Amino acid sequence: MIQVRPVHPMVGAEISSVDLTRPLDDATFAEIRAAFARHSVLVFHDQPVDDEQQMAFSRRFGPLEVTKVGSRGAGGHLAFITNLDESGKRVPLGHRAILNLKANSLWHTDSSFKKVPAMASALSGRIVPPEGAETEFLSTRAVWRELPEAMKRRLDGMVAWHSYFNSRRQIDPEMMTAAEHQAVPPVRQVLVRVHPDTGEKALYIASHASHIEGLPEAEGRALLADLMEFATDRRFVYTHRWKQHDLVIWDNRCTMHRGRPFDYERYDRYMIRTTIAGDAPTVAE
Ligand code: SIN
Repeated sequence: MIQVRPVHPMVGAEISSVDLTRPLDDATFAEIRAAFARHSVLVFHDQPVDDEQQMAFSRRFGPLEVTKVGSRGAGGHLAFITNLDESGKRVPLGHRAILNLKANSLWHTDSSFKKVPAMASALSGRIVPPEGAETEFLSTRAVWRELPEAMKRRLDGMVAWHSYFNSRRQIDPEMMTAAEHQAVPPVRQVLVRVHPDTGEKALYIASHASHIEGLPEAEGRALLADLMEFATDRRFVYTHRWKQHDLVIWDNRCTMHRGRPFDYERYDRYMIRTTIAGDAPTVAE
């Protein structure tokens, strides 16, 4: 039996009595899957997984996304979230890896810029700084529950446009290559998702969302900004302070997250993310 200890009233639980470096039996995985459906973010401590072990655990949830064009590891299944280059040296401040860390520090939900957005993501802390670099999470199911009823009625049925460019341009409008622009054109996503395991509704927005279909662009942007202000109130937020060998897995369908800054010139950070693919677009064509 796994042990499940909530870390926040609305989101996240620590899971113990499990070893993710070894194959999991079906009964143990079923308990993890149930905790995932309930808590949205699961934290496992002391899991010194290698890349293969992390991929094997992640694949229990479903097939993995392929790392996108223009990213380190493109075409594989690993995303490198780090300020280190391939030889393990810290990169200079203007480096693309730092710009990506800065973009990750905007609230987002992984791959909402893809037609079929990611179901879940698993992040392992291989090298973690002694201060800063926390990851913050919030439950968009809890946010939905607390929105005023009139606002819920207004949002239900709305569609937003999401793009990778919309988040990257907030850091540096020039940071995407032509190949990246071509690989990830804007896509439509519903603003309100229904969680397939629990039937609960969740607000689905964040930094890739640029505007709302059918509303004047400025009005859509303003509505998204108001919703983000409501959603990111501190009462919703769980802050994960990393220890080396933590592994955290989260449900992108009903959470937002962001990586907090750290002293990029002073400390090393080397995190590996595996991303579990979604199974369908959120909007009908
Ligand atoms: C991510 O956004 O996938 C990673 C968050 C982090 O860097 O803490």
